[in-house]
Amino acid sequence: MLPKRSDFPPGFLFGAATSAYQIEGHAFGGAGSTHWDTFAATPGNVVRAENGARACDHYHRWGEDLDLLQGGNFDVYRFSTSWARVMPEGRGAVNPEGLDFYDRLVDGMLERGLKPALTLYHWELPSPLADLGGWRNRDIAGWFGDFAQVVAARLGDRLWSAAPINEPWCVGWLSHFLGHHAPGMRDIRATARAMHHVLLAHGTAIGVLRSAGVKNLGAVCNFEYAQPADASPEAAAAARLYDAYYNRFFISGLFRGEYPAELMPAFAPHLPEGWQDDFATIRAPLDWFGLNYYTRKLIGPTGGPWPAHGEVEGPLPKTDMGWEIYPEGLHHFLHMARDYSGELPLFVTENGMAAPDRLAAGTVHDADRIAYLAAHLAACRRAIAEGVPLHGYFCWSLLDNYEWSLGYDKRFGLVHVDFETLRRTPKASYHALAAALQR
Ligand code: FCB
Repeated sequence: MLPKRSDFPPGFLFGAATSAYQIEGHAFGGAGSTHWDTFAATPGNVVRAENGARACDHYHRWGEDLDLLQGGNFDVYRFSTSWARVMPEGRGAVNPEGLDFYDRLVDGMLERGLKPALTLYHWELPSPLADLGGWRNRDIAGWFGDFAQVVAARLGDRLWSAAPINEPWCVGWLSHFLGHHAPGMRDIRATARAMHHVLLAHGTAIGVLRSAGVKNLGAVCNFEYAQPADASPEAAAAARLYDAYYNRFFISGLFRGEYPAELMPAFAPHLPEGWQDDFATIRAPLDWFGLNYYTRKLIGPTGGPWPAHGEVEGPLPKTDMGWEIYPEGLHHFLHMARDYSGELPLFVTENGMAAPDRLAAGTVHDADRIAYLAAHLAACRRAIAEGVPLHGYFCWSLLDNYEWSLGYDKRFGLVHVDFETLRRTPKASYHALAAALQR
């Protein structure tokens, strides 16, 4: 079912991804408070008000987790550093225990023949910076640059790649317009500022990393294929607007130094003054571009205030997230990314599914996940055959983990985690991948 390593071009890299807050256990090792801790502590935001205080206890079990990556025949481990673990106040003093942890982790990867692919920020903003307005405050570009400097100085010589920020859309729109993620805002001005400042912080960090001698720098955006809910011109316009702020805003800023025109009438008044001048920083040259892809959405008009559209339930089979399975969307975005990034190497930096996994007799029969991965890997092969410069594919996720506002309910792992005992059990998908990726 799964294609084999030899079905891909020589040197094609396979990996698995995680993120700090979702697995480490934020209560350990002197990490500072983050906006996810306080968001989760506020009723109604997260299922059962669960947080990342213990998560998968990766902070203590990282050796076992790296062994799983090695045993799965993966080439790359995409992980992230927690800003509040490295700098508990977000600025100023460094927590030596935090830096030591990531130092050991990177060495542990190298010892096991794994390439360390760092993401600096995967969403756990230090609370003292949230108090200052977080992503709404233009100063975040400088604060983030300083954090990048500290991490680069300690880990930079041993990283395989580095990307500043995971999924700008989630940091911006999902967290400041829809309010589904921390800080849970619903405000268009906050959204426009956060979306622009995320890119400014990205460009600033790329400059810092580059000067520090860190190699192989990229950006990671998430994409959702937007299709009109029906054949009307109104639905077509609705899907196009959704596509503009979701799929094109960031990649267009990064590679073309402009934002999609259809967004501007409603959005431009809320962007920070002088935003056009920031593209010199935002467009800092990159070495690769990463795509995270999971699903498509059917979009139709709703009336009411801008953007006056919404999701319509689609007919395709769905994952445990309620997300339709649509591998053609990944194929579409691989081509779209190339339209922006040209011959820059592309990576699928996240792809995978949540399934209602049950542990029985020491294993999990997640045939649905194997089929999902196979279908998306087939979409990758098709794009490669058509000339798309795709150089690697990373699964989300190595472990079942803290799925943000859905708490520990949604299982995305190749490895099952029992959140009582913290025992790890590789699922059938893990074993299938390990066999397919044998060298
Ligand atoms: C992505 C996130 C990741 C995880 C998956 C399911 O948007 O990067 O942390 O939540 O979705």
